Amino acid sequence: MARADKCPFDPPPQVLAADPVSRVRIWDGSTPWLITDYELQRSVLGDPRFSADSRKAGFPAQTAAILARRENSRAFISMDDPEHDRHRKMLTRNFMIKRVEAMRPRVQEIVDGLIDDMLAGDKPADLVTDFALPVPSLVICELLGVPYSDHDFFQARSKKLVARSTPVEEAVKAGDELRQYLLDLVAAKEKEPTDDLIGRLVSDQLATGELTRREVADMAVLMLVAGHETTANMIGLGTLALLEHPEQLAELRDTEDPKLVANAVEELLRYLTIVHTGRRRVATEDVEVAGQLVRAGEGVILANDAGNRNEDAFPEPDRLDIHRQARHHIAFGFGVHQCLGQPLARMELQVVYSTLYRRIPTLKLAVPFEDVQFKHDAFVYGVHSLPVTW
Ligand code: HEM
Repeated sequence: MARADKCPFDPPPQVLAADPVSRVRIWDGSTPWLITDYELQRSVLGDPRFSADSRKAGFPAQTAAILARRENSRAFISMDDPEHDRHRKMLTRNFMIKRVEAMRPRVQEIVDGLIDDMLAGDKPADLVTDFALPVPSLVICELLGVPYSDHDFFQARSKKLVARSTPVEEAVKAGDELRQYLLDLVAAKEKEPTDDLIGRLVSDQLATGELTRREVADMAVLMLVAGHETTANMIGLGTLALLEHPEQLAELRDTEDPKLVANAVEELLRYLTIVHTGRRRVATEDVEVAGQLVRAGEGVILANDAGNRNEDAFPEPDRLDIHRQARHHIAFGFGVHQCLGQPLARMELQVVYSTLYRRIPTLKLAVPFEDVQFKHDAFVYGVHSLPVTW
């Protein structure tokens, strides 16, 4: 569904106006349930009778390309417990708050370095290519143990994977090429062990037979794509939203209070809900949801962008307010699949939002707002580019 032209930060009006539980027709002609209510979404996402397994009949796939890739590429985001839990647990220690906090000084260094380069370069600059994309890309590469020098290769392919308009064959090819790239990297780490996330999966889980090479590579593809496409869009789109709310940007720029920065990050995550095409599940049993019978084998789409604009959960939901308590938002999903990388994403965004506007206090758009191109066609919402000057 399309967003209103004049409100690029708001979910599509049709989604906001939909009943809490209704039917919706999707690209393949099927009619899964659309759930827009915040509490109902949390209850479905927390209910093991709804499966995340995209291979199951009735699962509402986002595109034909995802449907085509579902047999071929399986990571734990589309598995159910106990298999999902077994895989996820192999990674959780990498994302524990203490581990992530230990990375903060390095992230600060990366952010400062990129701002130095931008300030020394030509004006206007494109905030997306010069800053928003390289920050999370460099960070996830260091964490995983993927050479950043290959970023043109994997960024081009992950961009294809998250664009709805990519033709099926191209998306399948992009996914296969990414997996092959990571399979080669796994082989290299088997020969020469490295102390990074993929290196540890190789020396622990692969060596003991807990995971196959293919499973390690599929996990790595998930983290590589999820780790930079999302945070990058939050930096680009979040900056644009703040430029449109200059008094809040000024407050964020001038504050010494890390709590206000952390609060602003949560509010921007809620307000923008960049993973905007809904969480997807399929019922494995008949389940009654708010008086409607969802039958076994029927798909459900949980519109978390609409959930995050729920009036009861967030008074005056359409207003951006960096002082609001928004941490109970569902921009990272909810339930067992809730984003594994959220401590990392939060820390990266806190460093970015507390540094960028302080280092470039006169940052402004270099084009009229109306000329900014939004990613209406991508699973992860954002801006294609953000020309800025100072
Ligand atoms: C602002 C940034 C981010 C947003 C908005 C975001 C959003 C989400 C959402 C909504 C889900 C739930 C999927 C579902 O329920 O089907 C998810 C899952 C996931 N995310 Fe993130 N994410 C972000 C950053 C990251 C980062 C930095 C990583 C780093 C590796 C990451 C890794 C993952 C993984 C592995 C999952 C699957 C978890 C599971 O199935 O158990 N994400 N993310």
